[in-house]
Amino acid sequence: MAGPEVEPRPPRPADAGRDNVVTAVGDSPTFAARHPRPTSKGIHMRAAIFTEQNGPLSVEDVTPTDPGPGDVVVRITASGLCRSDLSVIDGTLPMPPPAILGHEGTGVVEFVGAEVNRLEVGDRVIGSFIPACGVCWFCHNDQSNLCENTYTVMMNPRATRSDGTLLPTMTGLGTFAEQMTCAEMSLVKVETDLPDEMLALIGCGVTTGVGAALFTAKVTPGSSAVVIGCGGVGQAVIQGARIAGASRIIAVDPVALKRDTALKLGATDAIDPTVGDVAAQVLALTGGRGGDFVFEVLGSPDLITQAFNCTRAGGTTIAVGVPRSDAMVSIPSFPLILQEKRLLGCVYGSAQVRRDFPLLIGLIETGRLDVGDMVTRKLDLDEINDGFRAMTDGEVIRSVICAH
Ligand SMILES: NC(=O)c1ccc[n+]([C@@H]2O[C@H](COP(=O)([O-])OP(=O)(O)OC[C@H]3O[C@@H](n4cnc5c(N)ncnc54)[C@H](O)[C@@H]3O)[C@@H](O)[C@H]2O)c1
Ligand SMILES: [Zn+2]
Ligand SMILES: [Zn+2]
Repeated sequence: MAGPEVEPRPPRPADAGRDNVVTAVGDSPTFAARHPRPTSKGIHMRAAIFTEQNGPLSVEDVTPTDPGPGDVVVRITASGLCRSDLSVIDGTLPMPPPAILGHEGTGVVEFVGAEVNRLEVGDRVIGSFIPACGVCWFCHNDQSNLCENTYTVMMNPRATRSDGTLLPTMTGLGTFAEQMTCAEMSLVKVETDLPDEMLALIGCGVTTGVGAALFTAKVTPGSSAVVIGCGGVGQAVIQGARIAGASRIIAVDPVALKRDTALKLGATDAIDPTVGDVAAQVLALTGGRGGDFVFEVLGSPDLITQAFNCTRAGGTTIAVGVPRSDAMVSIPSFPLILQEKRLLGCVYGSAQVRRDFPLLIGLIETGRLDVGDMVTRKLDLDEINDGFRAMTDGEVIRSVICAH
């Protein structure tokens, strides 16, 4: 029922002189202090559990399973709410309940298994929602965002409910909790003094969005970019296009807060799609040609078609939003072929997390990437369902759960 038992970890040289050396999670004085309620393992944590499709998440005390030798236990300090979490709740992304959701988070390492060699207790880490194992074909070919272990890290149950039900975690992370146990390959160590809520967003929205512009599309200086859907990920696309030197950046979103934020973060024009024809307005702003780079960042098949229709001959459409797995996307054949329009998929912004998390931190630290203005609201874990309501109602760019 429980996960693999942990062998006591032999002392490692780097542990010498530390007073927080642990050989198992339950031995950690910090954990004992933080989780005083007695259980079979002496550890409890609170987590937001996905229990039924379209139902609210249930915040409960659960018991973490024992970490394996290649696992790391992280005390979570901040976790963003991404639409992909909502897509699991509403069935757009297939993941059966029960499970611990959350895939955009940061924290501090509290325990490392015996075979972990890149991380130490006390390290600051960001969860990578696609692992970067470093040894598979894709990792060796600069495509760690397609790592062959993407699905294997999701298989391990990482906690047990009070009724004994085992809980897997979203993308092998499960950041809507006080702590997470995950594979070492799902974590990237970072060295920075940036606040937790900013680092959390690097775990998904910022890397996906900025990466979509810089690494997937390779936006060029002086070009035009159109961003359809300006939520957390879309605002990061806008900033990526600005960083890449696009001269015209057109934000499309029905919500005034999103358009206003987009204009603040780098968009030069904003279109309300509920007023007038979007493609006609984009053409009018781009010399009648259409955008050089057009991003869909909601996850609607119809809007991917719209993005394609807003793209100039020879231009590139980038599909970032994730529709249902059984959805088909309709693309007109002549523009695809005779106008050489290109359509690119984008996962995790084509980012190489071990290279690019530090790169993004550098852009934030030097003021080129504004993540502070993307954090609209900070929440307690108990308020998570209201956070998803606020996302649905268009009240926020990003809500971030922050630990006390
Ligand atoms: N490809 C990846 O690796 C990856 C990573 C993260 C998220 N995603 C996906 O990206 C998408 C966006 O995620 P998010 O967290 O930014 O969501 P979000 O809810 O914050 O943003 C979506 C935005 O789309 C806007 N919108 C709604 N209807 C629109 C319309 N007709 N035209 C233009 N805009 C419209 C909403 O107002 C909102 O601002 C989701 O599908 C998510 O699953 C993909
Ligand atoms: Zn996400
Ligand atoms: Zn790999």
